[in-house]
Amino acid sequence: MQIQFPPHLNIDLFLRDYWQKKPLLIRNAFPDFINPIEADELAGLACEEEIPSRIIQQHSPTDWRCRMGPFEASDFAHLPESDWSLLITDVEKHLPEFQAYLEPFRFIPDWRIDDLMISYAPEGGSVGPHSDQYDVFLLQTSGRRRWSIHSRPLSTADFMPNLELKILREFEAEQNWITEPGDLLYLPPGVAHFGVALEPCMTWSVGFRAPSQRDLVSAYLDDLILSLKEQRYSDPELSQQPHPSEITPHARQKLRDTLRQQLTQSDAQLDLFLGRYLSEAGREYALEVFDELSPEQIKIELKQGNTLQKVAGIRCSYMQFEQETQLFIGGENVQTSLELAQLIGKAAKIDKKALTTGHTPSTLRLLSQLYNFGFLEFCDDL
Ligand code: SIN
Ligand code: CO
Repeated sequence: MQIQFPPHLNIDLFLRDYWQKKPLLIRNAFPDFINPIEADELAGLACEEEIPSRIIQQHSPTDWRCRMGPFEASDFAHLPESDWSLLITDVEKHLPEFQAYLEPFRFIPDWRIDDLMISYAPEGGSVGPHSDQYDVFLLQTSGRRRWSIHSRPLSTADFMPNLELKILREFEAEQNWITEPGDLLYLPPGVAHFGVALEPCMTWSVGFRAPSQRDLVSAYLDDLILSLKEQRYSDPELSQQPHPSEITPHARQKLRDTLRQQLTQSDAQLDLFLGRYLSEAGREYALEVFDELSPEQIKIELKQGNTLQKVAGIRCSYMQFEQETQLFIGGENVQTSLELAQLIGKAAKIDKKALTTGHTPSTLRLLSQLYNFGFLEFCDDL
C-alpha cells in the first residue's frame, strides 16, 4: 500500500510544501483500499477493557458529551440513530495486523508516529469542531463525511466554556470537502476542523506525536536527578561575613557552578536520553516473560525456522554515532551494529533470512536480551 499522490506531487514535494505547513486533500489516495473492519466489530473492540474507546454524542448545538469505554452491548443499543461517534485509539497496538496500514506513512520517522485511531459515526455524527496539536492524516475508509476547515489562529475564548471537550463555539469554514472511501486529508497542527458524517461512515486517523518543550525538559530533569550522586554543598573555606542574612557572591558562585556542571551534558549523553525517552511510550505493552531464553536457546529457535517479531506497541529507533550504533527500544538503549538496528527497526517481523547470516554471538546476545525484556516474541512465519 502506498499513497497515490496526484501527478504534480510526491513525498518530497509533500514534505516541502505541506507537512506542518498547510492542509492537503488527496482524492483516492488508496484506490484499492478494502475496509477490513465493520462497525459492529469496532463496537466489539470498544467493549474490551484494555482497548481505549470513547463515544462522543451531541445532545444540542452547545451540548457535547464524551463517555469513556469500556462499553457494553446495551450502551450501543441505547444510542440514537444519529449524532454520535465511536472512537478507538491505539488500534495498531491492540490489533497488530493494523500495523501494515501505517506503512505508507513511514516516510515520516517512526518516532513521530503516534497511533491509528478509527472512528465510526452514523449520519450527523461528529466529534465537534476542534483543532489538534498534532499533524494528522484522515483517511475515509467507508461512507461519506463532510470536512470543513479553517486556519485562523485560535485562543481559549474561541472554545465553548464548561465542556470537558475542547469544542469551538463558532465555525466559519474556509474550505469544505466531502470525502469518500480512499480520500486522505492531511492537516497540520492547529488547523481547526469539523467532520460530519453524511451517512454511516468510518474515518481512520493516523496521528503524530511531537514532544512539548515542557514534557521534554521535565523528563530530562527526572532522568538527570536519578543519575545524581548524593553530594552536598560544603564550605570548609568559610570565613566570617559582615551580615548573616547575605548569600555571598562566593557561595552563589559555588552553587551556580554546581547547577551548571550538572546541567551541561555532552551531545552523546543528551542523545542517549532522547533515544530512551522517545522510545519509552508503549513500554507497558512489553510481555511478561516467565521463561527467559539464553542466546543459545534463541539460536536453536531460529535454526528451527521460528520468526521473531517486535511486540506490538513497543517503539524502536536507532541513532548512528561515529564509533557505534545505539538501538532504543521500550525506553532502553543497547549498543549494536547498524545492520542489526536497521533490521529490527524495519518491520514488525524480523527478516529470518537476513538474521541467519548473522547468528553471531553478539546478535544472539542482543536478541536474547530484547526477548527477555518482553520486547520480542516468536510468532507465525513470514
Ligand atoms: C473523527 O474521526 O471523527 C475525528 C477525527 C478528528 O477530527 O481528529
Ligand atoms: Co481532530
